[in-house]
Amino acid sequence: MSSRLSFDQWKSDVLTQVDQGFEQWLPSADRIPTTLHRAMHYAVKSPGKRIRSLIACASGDLFGANIEDTVHCAVAIELIHTYSLVHDDLPCMDNDELRRGKPTVHIAFDEATAMLVGDALQPLAFNILANQQTKLEHEVRLKQVRVLSESIGSIGMVGGQAIDLSQVGMSMTLSQLELMHAKKTGALFLASAELGALCGTGYTDSCEEPLRNYVRQIGFGFQVVDDILDSSSSTETLGKTAAKDIRDNKPTYVTLFGLDRAKEMASEIEENTRNTLCLLPRKGGYLGDIAELVFDRVY
Ligand code: IPE
Ligand code: IPE
Ligand code: MG
Ligand code: MG
Ligand code: MG
Repeated sequence: MSSRLSFDQWKSDVLTQVDQGFEQWLPSADRIPTTLHRAMHYAVKSPGKRIRSLIACASGDLFGANIEDTVHCAVAIELIHTYSLVHDDLPCMDNDELRRGKPTVHIAFDEATAMLVGDALQPLAFNILANQQTKLEHEVRLKQVRVLSESIGSIGMVGGQAIDLSQVGMSMTLSQLELMHAKKTGALFLASAELGALCGTGYTDSCEEPLRNYVRQIGFGFQVVDDILDSSSSTETLGKTAAKDIRDNKPTYVTLFGLDRAKEMASEIEENTRNTLCLLPRKGGYLGDIAELVFDRVY
């Protein structure tokens, strides 16, 4: 796929291929145990924004990767992201009943099934990285497994979730909040960009820091916007319960600094993101369009 495609055309092609990847890799829904497999299909195929897939594929495109290689990575990352949401919604965590405009997995099925969906999606993601039928060198695959496993463990995403739950009702400084979000949301964004980039031969040592700086900014931006939308949008638009951060006493950019300041922060981060794009080859290619998606999103 060429980067001469318009962003909309490229995005639509990528998302079609990611959907095909779900069909290829998820065990069929009528395979025993059928309830578990049906629940896995339900969770994964519900209409997410697939922002992490786009980051992986745009980053791959920037460094000369084959789209076939990056799509496998995107599918693996979406499975991890979906698992994290299914568990995040459980009564023992955020206790949410609506996700992507549909009942959450523990509501549509039951709690034990929701837990098992997450448990099953996680190893499937690593199975894809190990088994994808592409020409990627074994060393690259190994590095991808290392990057992804580190980013989602206790020093990354799951660590961020632990901090999130431990901070209910507490106040946090800006740097504590940023650390939590860097783990909770940022780590998987970073892994998405790196897994995609590693598929390309153009991803040299000197590109690592500029790419990471860009992703750090959109990771923060994504979370600030998530917090703003939680407090100012509707359940109908979001497809998940609005105002639940306030309901749950969660420290967020809005609860700590107020809506107006959170909006100013989002603008500042958007500006910083533009500056990081200038340091990337081709001014970041489609990564620039993805930044616009992140800052302009309404759900
Ligand atoms: C929701 O992520 C959880 C956060 C990290 C804020 P997304 O907003 O990317 O969720 P989907 O995949 O589009 O549903
Ligand atoms: C979820 O964060 C982050 C992960 C699942 C790792 P939130 O709890 O803020 O996400 P939403 O608002 O429920 O989508
Ligand atoms: Mg949560
Ligand atoms: Mg939540
Ligand atoms: Mg949120």
